[in-house]
Amino acid sequence: MKLLEEKIKNDGKVLSDQVLKVDSFLNHQIDPQLMLEIGKEFARIFEAEGITKIVTIESSGIAPAVMAGLQMNVPVIFARKRKSLTLVDELISATVHSFTKNETNEISISKKYVNEIDRVLIIDDFLANGEAALGLVDIVQKSGAKVAGIGIVIEKSFQPGAQRLKELGLRVESLARIASLSNGEVTYINEIVE
Ligand code: G4P
Ligand code: NA
Ligand code: NA
Repeated sequence: MKLLEEKIKNDGKVLSDQVLKVDSFLNHQIDPQLMLEIGKEFARIFEAEGITKIVTIESSGIAPAVMAGLQMNVPVIFARKRKSLTLVDELISATVHSFTKNETNEISISKKYVNEIDRVLIIDDFLANGEAALGLVDIVQKSGAKVAGIGIVIEKSFQPGAQRLKELGLRVESLARIASLSNGEVTYINEIVE
C-alpha cells in the first residue's frame, strides 16, 4: 500500500536492524485518515472471504481493526492482555510469548462474541515472530469459528511470523512488507532489485 509505505519512510524511525518506531501515526499518536485508508484496503483485499467478525489484540491493533470493521460492516473484538473487571463471561484464552519483551502473557476473548458460524479476519499492527497472531488463531479456532484471513499493517518479512502463519495454510496479507531495516533504512520487499 503506497500511502502507508510512504508514511513509514517519512515518519517512521529505524531504531535498530530489528525495530521500527511508528509512534507518530500507529503506536501512540494515531492518524485517523491513514487508518481509514488502511481499513478500506483490508476491506478490498478480503471482500470475497465472507468475513463476519474481526478479531485483533489490544492496544495497537484496535485502530486499524475498527476502520476495517467500519468498511466491512462487521463487529470488532479485541483480545485482552489483562483480566477485565467486567469481563465475567466464559473466556477463551491462549498463551503468547513475546521474544522482543521476553514475557509471556495470557490473552483472552469472551466466548460470547465469536462462535462456529463466524468467518474471522484477524488484524494486527505488526507481524514479527508471529506469536500474537498465532495466539489469536488459537483463540479463534478454539471458538469453533474459521480463520478466513490475517491482515497485517506492517510485516517485518525478515522475521519468521508470516512464514509460520502461511505454513498453517492461512492467508496472510500485509499492507507494508519490510525486507530490511539495515543501515538505518527501511527497504520493502517490492523494492529489492535482483
Ligand atoms: P510477535 O507477536 O510477532 O511475535 O511480536 P513480538 O512479540 O516481537 O512483539 C511484541 C510487541 O512489539 C507487540 O506489540 C508488537 O506489535 C510490537 N512490535 C514488534 N516489532 C515491532 C517493531 O519493529 N516496531 C514496533 N513499533 N512494534 C513492534 P504490543 O506489545 O502488543 O503492544 P501494543 O499493541 O500495545 O502496541
Ligand atoms: Na504493537
Ligand atoms: Na499489536
